[in-house]
Amino acid sequence: MNDRPAPIRLADDVRTLKKLGLNHQRNKVQDQTAVIDAAGADFRYANCAQLPWNPERFSLLWGTPVWEAASQRQRVLLNQLYWVAYYSQIVSAEVATIFFNQTSAAGLYGLEDFRPVCDTLDLESAQERAHIAAFRSIAGQTEDALLGRRVFTWPMRGPYAETMIFADTGPFRGWWKRLQLRTYGLLSSDNAFIACQYFLVRGLRTLNGKQVQHQLSQHHTQAPDPDLSPIPSLVSYAHFLDESFHFNSSTIISHDVVRCLKPPTAFERWVVNQGLLGCQRDHRQFSVAINGIFWHDPALYDALFAVLTSPGYGLAAADATHLLRRTFSEESEGLHASSATHAKARDSYRSYLDGLPFIDAANAEQRIISKASVAQWLATNRRGFAKWEARQ
Ligand SMILES: [Fe+2]
Ligand SMILES: [Fe+2]
Repeated sequence: MNDRPAPIRLADDVRTLKKLGLNHQRNKVQDQTAVIDAAGADFRYANCAQLPWNPERFSLLWGTPVWEAASQRQRVLLNQLYWVAYYSQIVSAEVATIFFNQTSAAGLYGLEDFRPVCDTLDLESAQERAHIAAFRSIAGQTEDALLGRRVFTWPMRGPYAETMIFADTGPFRGWWKRLQLRTYGLLSSDNAFIACQYFLVRGLRTLNGKQVQHQLSQHHTQAPDPDLSPIPSLVSYAHFLDESFHFNSSTIISHDVVRCLKPPTAFERWVVNQGLLGCQRDHRQFSVAINGIFWHDPALYDALFAVLTSPGYGLAAADATHLLRRTFSEESEGLHASSATHAKARDSYRSYLDGLPFIDAANAEQRIISKASVAQWLATNRRGFAKWEARQ
């Protein structure tokens, strides 16, 4: 936010309208839907089986005892399964995004002059549907080929499900979350401020993704011959291009368009801050299994055990358990790398919220996220893994 006096209507805010218009126009011109649709349709696991799909450090369990013990072939599998796991989480987030783009567009369309905002959101939702289709096609085929079962992918579902697919949750928390999401959908569809500030939550939630996906996209752009890079790497790149525009629109709507609205009531401020607290809770920990997604590692032990003991990976149950025990109870290069990604995300969240007048201190300072530490991760996972082992 800057110090310009608030315009009365969006139509009078020439600078913001220009930003919105340019972003929408450029997104239409550079739209990757056709590339992504073709990639999803053309993908055959066998054609991409031998190559890594991401930069090496974006492999499942990179820098952990599992990684140190892995053969070259096993490392390629961990790299490909990172892609599967990563984009399975993105699919979950994007299913929710499509819904809230629509409820928020409904909440904003009731204002004069808001058509450009709503047209932007329509294009983005259509792009998300293409992203989801390609991610699911590639991830599903890869799991079939490598694991013979679903581990990170999931049957299609609606927008009220838990967004984080490996979360620290239970039946009550799950029920409460679904209720919150339903309420947020209802409120945003009929309240311009809450609708507008959905994009603050969306922008914040995608900041870390933007940083990680930029690096994933470089596997394609920095390949010696990008025309020959595996289809999943091309999809990472094409998706990153589309998402750059989505991030811009999150920022324009939440930071600039908001100035055309009446100042929020106490209730509206509270709702927006609850949305931001929800993001902090979802992102409060880092994962050694997957650097760049803030999953709760104890929720992943079963999945990782399934990967390591799959016929393709080939570890015996006792060896897999031993390596996982070390991975989840010792410090490792991978652990420190994931912690560093989390700290970088926290700093970027703080600066994204900086200067917005309706943000509570708990969100401005990112107090929940700031509690994460290597020591806390070790305590949680040593305890969690001992429980998991006792159940085996
Ligand atoms: Fe997307
Ligand atoms: Fe998006």
